[in-house]
Amino acid sequence: MILTKICLFILHSSIICTFAPEKNNSNMYYLADTANIKEIEKLLRYFPLQGVTTNPTILATENRKLSKILPELANLMDGKMLHVQMISEKAERMVDEAKKYREITADKCDFYAKIPITEEGFRAIPMLKKAGFKVTATAIFTHQQALVAARAGANFVAPYVNRLDNISSHGIEVVSHIVKSFNDFKLPTKVLAASFKTVDQVHRVSLTGCYSATISYELLERLRSHPMTDTSVETFLKDGKNLYDIPF
Ligand code: G3P
Repeated sequence: MILTKICLFILHSSIICTFAPEKNNSNMYYLADTANIKEIEKLLRYFPLQGVTTNPTILATENRKLSKILPELANLMDGKMLHVQMISEKAERMVDEAKKYREITADKCDFYAKIPITEEGFRAIPMLKKAGFKVTATAIFTHQQALVAARAGANFVAPYVNRLDNISSHGIEVVSHIVKSFNDFKLPTKVLAASFKTVDQVHRVSLTGCYSATISYELLERLRSHPMTDTSVETFLKDGKNLYDIPF
């Protein structure tokens, strides 16, 4: 009996821990994982977006040079977060690169140097912090990589949910472990979950208490909309057509 009670207590505590929300935040941060100017302009009209993230693959899908896209992205952000990935392989060059991009984006956005966590990437994080940059550690696939990146001083870590799911790992579980440790250790680093292919992945990631996610335009649209919302609105319009007679 006592043993059963102890087991139930442990089970209950572990469920609470797994889903304990990240502290000091009361809202979900949605970022757009795209460099498509039209998509971002459209989203900014109605979606409560906190920023945009880019990487070389995203730029490749646009097939436009960074020199053209970067100023446009910064202008659109108007103070919101812009996470731009460095392509240099050496830490010193990553810092030079970040300095150049910060110069180009000036004060138009909240600039984050996005650093893939290679050996040189880890070396670059404290160097960038010292130079006054905010840093997002990206291409995170394990809980330990996230902890090391936090230790190095990253402001955000970006674990890749769908890519983890696709290698028979568990993206949501990895995110939930990172969130739990960041909370347990009271670390200031935040989790920016990335790489999503389904609305359900975003849904389950937000239940882990991870309150920031960067998501493609298509998926942001899918999670915002619902066919039942559209049919309900159609019915409201039909039903109210001849009854709403107050001029305004
Ligand atoms: O932000 C990281 C992200 O772009 C990786 O996503 O869809 O290429 O796995 P994906």
